[in-house]
Amino acid sequence: NMRPSIRLSSPDALSAILYGGQSSGSTPRWSIRAWSPLDRPGQLCYARCMSQSASPPLVAVLNGPNMNMLGLRQPHLYGSATLDDVEQLCAETADQLGLAIDFRQTNGEGELVSWVQECRGRAQGIVINPAAFTHTSVAILDALNTFEPPVIEVHISNVHKREEFRHRSYVSLRADGVIAGLGTQGYTLALRRLAHL
Ligand code: DQA
Repeated sequence: NMRPSIRLSSPDALSAILYGGQSSGSTPRWSIRAWSPLDRPGQLCYARCMSQSASPPLVAVLNGPNMNMLGLRQPHLYGSATLDDVEQLCAETADQLGLAIDFRQTNGEGELVSWVQECRGRAQGIVINPAAFTHTSVAILDALNTFEPPVIEVHISNVHKREEFRHRSYVSLRADGVIAGLGTQGYTLALRRLAHL
């Protein structure tokens, strides 16, 4: 299965990589990936047609401490859905959007830093709910600053309606967008936004 690739590039138009292939039958399979020059490299702006040959863009969905207690912890703030429910919701949404997701949770700051580092060159976007580390972690901010593609910060609760120490977010200094107070739907809205960038 030959996959010739033609790279077109011009300063004021699209940059595109065109993959062509002949499937075993007579139907040619083409897939086009295109980046607007206004976008940063690695962003998700691309068009596909009959793109069985291209693997879906990967988005990491990362969760910080105590998010494993979702459904049990303070349901008046965080609701009754569990983290497994959120993962399933994200998987269904990603499927509809043609994205692949890597959904994770950790209680460790260092582990979250390592996961963000691992996203470099691998993920085309990050959705992150750093939980309490949002308000304390310069290390997670620094890690996110090494990652070029879009980052959306999500909080289930409206942190601005809560204690003053939750009003400050180190991660917001890097995030391209912030969703707070929209419940677990915030995760799916973040994925939808990433699919449009
Ligand atoms: C949270 C808000 C944080 O302030 C808190 O520490 C969390 C969850 C949220 O999703 O609303 O653990 O990130």
